[in-house]
Amino acid sequence: MGSINSLIRKNVRNLKPYSSARDEYEGEAAVFLDANENPWFPPLNRYPDPRQRALKKIISRMRAVSEENIFLGNGSDEAIDILIRGFCEPGSDNVVSIDPSYGMYEVTAAISGVSYRKVPLKDNFGLDQVALKDAADNNTRIIFLCSPNNPTGNSFLYSDINEIFKWYSGLLVVDEAYIDFSGKPGFLGEIENFERLVVLQTLSKAWGRAGIRLGMAFGNEEVIRVMNKIKPPYNINSLTIQEAIRTLDKEDEKNQRVKEIVDTRNMLEKKLEKLPMVRKIYPSDANFLLVRVDDADKLYKYLSDNKIIVRNRSKSTGCKNCIRITIGTRKEIDLLLKTLNDY
Ligand SMILES: Cc1ncc(COP(=O)(O)O)c(C=O)c1O
Repeated sequence: MGSINSLIRKNVRNLKPYSSARDEYEGEAAVFLDANENPWFPPLNRYPDPRQRALKKIISRMRAVSEENIFLGNGSDEAIDILIRGFCEPGSDNVVSIDPSYGMYEVTAAISGVSYRKVPLKDNFGLDQVALKDAADNNTRIIFLCSPNNPTGNSFLYSDINEIFKWYSGLLVVDEAYIDFSGKPGFLGEIENFERLVVLQTLSKAWGRAGIRLGMAFGNEEVIRVMNKIKPPYNINSLTIQEAIRTLDKEDEKNQRVKEIVDTRNMLEKKLEKLPMVRKIYPSDANFLLVRVDDADKLYKYLSDNKIIVRNRSKSTGCKNCIRITIGTRKEIDLLLKTLNDY
């Protein structure tokens, strides 16, 4: 607790948060005249629960994590933003991340006026612990480690995070947006062991609910308290809460779709290996493949001329001539393969 308190941005530490009408009254009242709502057009005339208790109860059970250790955001993107705003002093603190990785860490830090330091991954996309240590200093408040990493597809190891905590005293945020596709346990079970570890997950990928915007941050209750303190009171809307509850009830269906996607990924990998323009396929724990080809710009244009859109990652560090292919349905991937065969 002491060590986390010292990481909180000073104005946030001293902040008296906004207290909404629905925060102050918790019971089952007969008449609500406290929030300037319209009495007509139920049920969406009412503000949602600012603490999302019903939804957190379900997530808590599913993930075996207490409700005090869960923050819910308008996508993980909001959790990333709130972590930076809660823990980094603009102008003096910094954020460190691997390169290449998910682009929003850098953009979000830049919007907040927090400097962003990139640590290139090794040739095999493994973590360069020495370079990471060199890049971080006493003003590093957050290290973002995306695992499985976007766009490289590889996961990091327990030994990687264990090693980081030996020399580092800020927050380590492990972004597990793609964890369900990896078949690996991930780091959620480690938040009890490392009080400065935060794990991000989302309903946008394996759960197929990118449209409702629901991201989750799991961590020490002191970190979560800071995040809740600075979030907008009603950051998760009523429709999202309802749909998230419905979605989480269909875990078997999610697992079935994840299996299909992973099977399709494995099939695609085997077929791509045989194509003449393919130079290398990077092993993936996610719902995409990073593929090095002979000429990524040319292939990207050819595919988009044929109305198939992939992501050209050629300009990312270590990804020259790489395209990133999201695993779609079997039918979509068959069409991709047919189009590539005609290239
Ligand atoms: C690594 C990673 N984290 C987070 C996100 C965004 O997640 P959300 O939809 O929950 O904001 C993405 C989206 O592509 C991602 O690749």
